[in-house]
Amino acid sequence: MKELFNISGKVFVVTGSTGVLAGGTARYLQEQGAKVAYLGRNQAKVDAVLEEAGKISEHCLGVTTDVLDEDGLNRGYEKVMNEFGRVDALINGAGGNMPGATIGPDKEIFDLNIDDYSQVMDLNLKGTVLPTLTFAKAFKAQGTGSVINFSSMSSGQALTRVLGYSNAKAAIDNFTRWMATEMALKYGDGVRVNAVAPGFFISNQNRALLLNEDGSFTERGQQVINKTPFRRFGEQEEIYGTIHYLLSDAASFVTGTVAAVDGGFSSFCGV
Ligand SMILES: NC(=O)c1ccc[n+]([C@@H]2O[C@H](COP(=O)([O-])OP(=O)(O)OC[C@H]3O[C@@H](n4cnc5c(N)ncnc54)[C@H](O)[C@@H]3O)[C@@H](O)[C@H]2O)c1
Repeated sequence: MKELFNISGKVFVVTGSTGVLAGGTARYLQEQGAKVAYLGRNQAKVDAVLEEAGKISEHCLGVTTDVLDEDGLNRGYEKVMNEFGRVDALINGAGGNMPGATIGPDKEIFDLNIDDYSQVMDLNLKGTVLPTLTFAKAFKAQGTGSVINFSSMSSGQALTRVLGYSNAKAAIDNFTRWMATEMALKYGDGVRVNAVAPGFFISNQNRALLLNEDGSFTERGQQVINKTPFRRFGEQEEIYGTIHYLLSDAASFVTGTVAAVDGGFSSFCGV
C-alpha cells in the first residue's frame, strides 16, 4: 500500500528555524524521520536549535545566513548538497513584521517610514524569493521538489497598522501561484509550490501586541479573537499537519494553493 504521508528520509531546508512556527515545524519534520537543515541568521541561535535537533536524530545540520544574503544562501545550498545530496523541500519560514514599519495607534499613514516599509518588504518577499531561487535549483535536476511559503491573514484582507507586511504577504500569495506555474510548466508535475496562511499564533514578534503581561488580551488581541470563530489563538503544533500534508505525496496534485490555518478567521466577517 502506498504510504501517502511518509516523509521519512526526505531532505528539508527550513528558514526562520530559530523562530516559533518554522522552528517547531522543523523539529516536527525531523521527528517524522526527515533530514533537516536548520537555517538561521544568528550563529548562537542556530547552534542552540541544532543542539536540540541533535537529540531527535543525527540527521540535521545548521546553515547560518541572512535570507537576503545571496552568497550565504549559496554556501548553505552547497553545504546541504554535500551533506545530504539533495533537497526535497524548502520551507520559507523567515519573515515577520518590524516595529518601525508599524503605524502606531497615535500615528497616521502619512507618518509611514518608507525605509522601514522597504525593509519589511525585503525580508518577507525577497527573503522568500531568494532562498527559493537558490534551493529550487536542486528540483531542476531531480525533477521533484516542493516549496512551502508563509503567507498571512493580512494578505487578502486589510489588517490595520501593518502596511508593508500586508503588501509583502499579498505578494507571497502571488509568488506562490507564479512559481507553482513556472516550476510545473518547465520541470513537470513533480515540483510543487504552496503556502500556508497562519491565523494568529502567539510568537516572539506579536506576543506584546496580543497579550498583556497577565495573559489577558490586549485591545488588538481581543479584536482578533472577536473575528476568530474558534475564539482562541493557534497553538504552534496546529501548523505542522498542514505543512506535513503539503510536503507529502498526499498532496501530489496540489500546487499553487494558500492553505489557511486560522480557526476560521478568514471565513468570518466578524458579525
Ligand atoms: N505567528 C503568527 O501569528 C503568524 C501569522 C501569520 C504569518 N506568520 C508568519 O510565519 C512565519 C514565522 O513567524 P513566527 O511567528 O514563527 O515568528 P518568529 O519571529 O518566531 O520567527 C521568524 C524567524 O525569522 C527569522 N528571521 C528574521 N529575519 C531574518 C533574516 N533576514 N534572515 C534569516 N532569518 C530571519 C527570525 O530570526 C526568526 O527566527 C513568518 O513568515 C511570519 O510572518 C506568523
